[in-house]
Order: sequence, then C-alpha cells, then structure tokens
Amino acid sequence: MKQAVQNLLDTASNEVSGLGDDQKALDQARVKFLGRKGELAQLFKELGKVPEQERREAGRILNEAKAKLEAIFSDALENSRRLAAGKRESIDVTVPGRKPQQGRLHPITQVALEITRIFNWLGFETVEGPEIELDYYNFEALNIPKDHPAREMQDTFYISEDVVLRTHTSPIQVRTMEKRRPPIRIIAPGRTYRCDSDVTHTPMFHQVEGLMVGKGVCFGDLKGILTTFVHQMFGHDVGLRFRPSFFPFTEPSAEVDIQCVMCRGQGCRVCSQTGWLEILGSGMVDPEVYKYVGYDPEEVTGFAFGMGIERIAMLKFGIDDLRLFFENDLRFLNQF
Ligand code: DAH
Repeated sequence: MKQAVQNLLDTASNEVSGLGDDQKALDQARVKFLGRKGELAQLFKELGKVPEQERREAGRILNEAKAKLEAIFSDALENSRRLAAGKRESIDVTVPGRKPQQGRLHPITQVALEITRIFNWLGFETVEGPEIELDYYNFEALNIPKDHPAREMQDTFYISEDVVLRTHTSPIQVRTMEKRRPPIRIIAPGRTYRCDSDVTHTPMFHQVEGLMVGKGVCFGDLKGILTTFVHQMFGHDVGLRFRPSFFPFTEPSAEVDIQCVMCRGQGCRVCSQTGWLEILGSGMVDPEVYKYVGYDPEEVTGFAFGMGIERIAMLKFGIDDLRLFFENDLRFLNQF
C-alpha cells in the first residue's frame, strides 16, 4: 500500500509539472487523481482487503496522500492563474511602437506663411489687426463714404452701426499709419468676413495686406516689389501684367494678373479662355487716406496691395473648389 501511494503521488506530480499553466488540463488531472472514481478513490476501495492490524496505518497513509495530492493541485492551479494574469499584464518590449499621427499646417496657413516670408525677405514687417473692426477703419478712413456700394448690407456683417467684422485687411493700413511715422513697410495677413457663400466664396476667408510708405515711393517700386513677389511665389518663368483698375483708397489703382498656371497662357476653362488670372489689387495710396492719419501727401507717397490667400493657394496647388479648404477632410489636407 505504501508503495502504491508513493507511486500515485510521484505520477501525479510528474503529470502536473508537465501541464504548465494549462488550467483546463490541470482540472482534468485533478479529477483523474482526486475525483470520486479517481485513482486515490481506487486505493481507498482496496483498504478493505488490507489485513485488520495494518488497516489503521494504511488509512492514515491514504489520508495523508489525499492531503498531499490536494496541495499539489491547488498549488498548480494557483500558479497557473498567476501566470495567466502575468501574461496579460506583462509588457513585450519588442513590439514596434504605435506611430504617432503627425499634425501639419493647414494649406492656407502654409501659403500665408510663404507670402509673409517673401515680403519679410523684402523688408516688410508682419503686423496684425482686429477681426472685429470699427466702421471707421474698415471703410471711412479708407475713403469709402457712407453711401458707397461696398458698404451695403449684403457684403458686410454688421455687429452694430459702428462695428463690423472686417471685410478686408486694409483697415490694418490705417491703424499702422495712425501709430507710426514713415518710412513704413508692413505685411498683414488675417481672417476677413463677407456675407457671401457659393463655390468661389465663403463667409470667412483670408487676405494679406501690404503697405509701403516713405519719401519718393513711386509706382515703379510697386511694380518691382510685386513682380519679385510673383516670381518668388509662382516661379520666374510666370508672366504677369498690371491692369488699370479702381479702388477708393488708391489712385491710380492696378490689378495684377498672372499667366494662367493651368494652361500657361494658352486659354482654358480656369482662365475663361483669356490666359490670365487676377491675383491681387494694388495702387498708390490715395492722398485722401493720408488726411485721416495726419500724413502730408506732399511729403510722403506710398503704395498698397491686397490679395486673397485662398485664391493664391488654389492657383499654387491647382485646386478648383474653394470649399475643400474648410471641410477638414484629412485625405485632402494630408497632401500638403
Ligand atoms: N481691400 C481690397 C479688397 O478686399 C484689396 C486691395 C486692393 C487692397 C487694392 C489694397 C489695394 O491695399 O491697394 O478687395
């Protein structure tokens, strides 16, 4: 009997150590050895055959074996549970890391920075102004009187009678001249607002304003600076032309066209078969404007210009729908 019990214990611990952390197999082995019809139970059955005087001792041995078997299995199960939990929580330092999604600047921001970079390089300082603007700076001091068509309700978001969302970045000209004395060379990017919405207009858009004022600044300076800008922005081989125009705050005024970037001047749908695309408005600052800021038009002259950043971005990147910039579709934005 003693030998049989020892054999049973040896087999059980051998088997258990071979099962590792397989909980299901451990459970099955436990039934096999300790179950009601298990191997230990078989030995208990044989107790009856043991001679009377040895039976007591044999019973003690069997009970002791039962306790040992139970300990073997409970230890093994506990161990396997701990192993399983460890596996779940352990860190595999060899697993490749998750690549962080890298953000990037919005194409409009990129183009605004590119424009200001070019003008900074030409000696223009970047300045900003408020988006909620006084009627005075947005219109009045720019020689746009109360009855001017540009002031009509359909274009301007009025906050009150005297306060508007700026419809262009030109008020920054006036604010800057009011604060400083010539010589002035500034470039002013920012958000602008107009009550307008279709394929080519959004209620919020961006402009860049430029201003250069000093002694003897002339139309030739305007042409030189803006030509340099166009060549830097669109390439040295792009043709441009200055076309007479009108703005209330400049005299004379000119719009700048560049050769169509799609057809290189051949004529296509984008340029309405003209071969040219308008990119900005400009002109010599009207002496009327100097009156508002206390400059003497006999002493100083200057030029100003303004352009829509979305338009420049569309031409630069070949995008034909303005709304793409504002839909925030990452498939679109990730291309820049
Ligand atoms: N402010 C004008 C607009 O929004 C653009 C412009 C034209 C600005 C001529 C200027 C300029 O400074 O000289 O359409």
